[in-house]
Amino acid sequence: MTEVPFARPHFTGDEGAAIAAVVASGWVSQGPQVRAFEQAFAARVGAPDAVATSSCTSALQLALHASGVGIGDEVIVPSLSFIATANSVWHCGATPVFADIDPRTFNVDPAAVERVITERTRVIMPVHQLGLPAEMDPILQLAADRGLTVVEDAACAVGAKYRSRPVGSLGPLACFSLHPRKVITTGEGGMIAVHDPEVAARLRRLRQHAMDVSDLARHSAEDVIVERYPERGFNARMTDLQATLGLCQLQILDEILDSRRRLAERYTERLADVPYVEPPYEPGYAQRTWQSYAVRLGAGAPIDRLELMRRLLRDGVATRRGVMAIHREGAYGGFHPGLSHTEAAERDVLMLPLFPDLSMEQQDHVIERLTSHVIAVAA
Ligand SMILES: Cc1ncc(COP(=O)(O)O)c(C=O)c1O
Repeated sequence: MTEVPFARPHFTGDEGAAIAAVVASGWVSQGPQVRAFEQAFAARVGAPDAVATSSCTSALQLALHASGVGIGDEVIVPSLSFIATANSVWHCGATPVFADIDPRTFNVDPAAVERVITERTRVIMPVHQLGLPAEMDPILQLAADRGLTVVEDAACAVGAKYRSRPVGSLGPLACFSLHPRKVITTGEGGMIAVHDPEVAARLRRLRQHAMDVSDLARHSAEDVIVERYPERGFNARMTDLQATLGLCQLQILDEILDSRRRLAERYTERLADVPYVEPPYEPGYAQRTWQSYAVRLGAGAPIDRLELMRRLLRDGVATRRGVMAIHREGAYGGFHPGLSHTEAAERDVLMLPLFPDLSMEQQDHVIERLTSHVIAVAA
């Protein structure tokens, strides 16, 4: 039987040698490779600087902390997101306040954001869900009008563009994930695209317990340096081993994005006539990364989403439910009104296998099995 995994990172085979060279150098923790990766990443996403971290979650936490978010503050986030979005707010002692989404794009709706602003709101955190950029211009405008900061959760959006501008160049702070389920990977890892040099310098300190001198600077100093800790910080360091993998991945980012786009377009074309299966909406304004390919089971679908996923799994096809609704989990449960589009999207969406090495044979198998289950039940 054709087996189709849900996701797999894409490598060229040259990564091992590059990492072995770093091991041989003796410097494996955060050092020159991390700095080189940050510079290459910043250039790629159109930001003046970038700060590497241990994950996107720690990147978000640091970005919020550096934006002054603390106990008693509120940060507006979509509920339709991975729970890390809300957890990063909680890590700062603040409260995530959920805003509903645009049901077509799955991204936070700027009008819904405006409705939940209070005097405690400090930051708006749009998520570029599944690598499709959120409607950033109205969000940036709203933030400017209300004196708020924008921190983007760009976990899935390395290489995405919004109205021809790369995600990373849009707002002051954008946080990316380098987990293997994302567009490019360092195993685990994150990156903050930063526009203000002072904020970049502070983030570099905060990620290593706010120590005022980096290991790299101390290593190359000609005199003894005694470090100081002017504020409290975190450990969110990336290793040079990870950064080396990241540099290799950046070199093939365009290739990865191309493969993902081609496969996504092929799904959309082939699924066009399958009843009840609605391919992703394409807003004209964006170049997305296709980090995931999510289809919606339309109204009146004769098969339940979970049952469809079970049947596909028996056929060797791994799928995932669509993006979760954070407010429906025990961790953030309670009464959260006005999230009807979020709840519908959580209920009706499933994600199909999509990764650069997905073969046409595997993709045909997914399409054929999906079609046959929906049609068989409908008949
Ligand atoms: C939207 C979103 N934000 C944040 C994260 C957290 O990323 P990381 O695993 O790098 O901490 C993820 C990961 O799945 C995500 O999808």
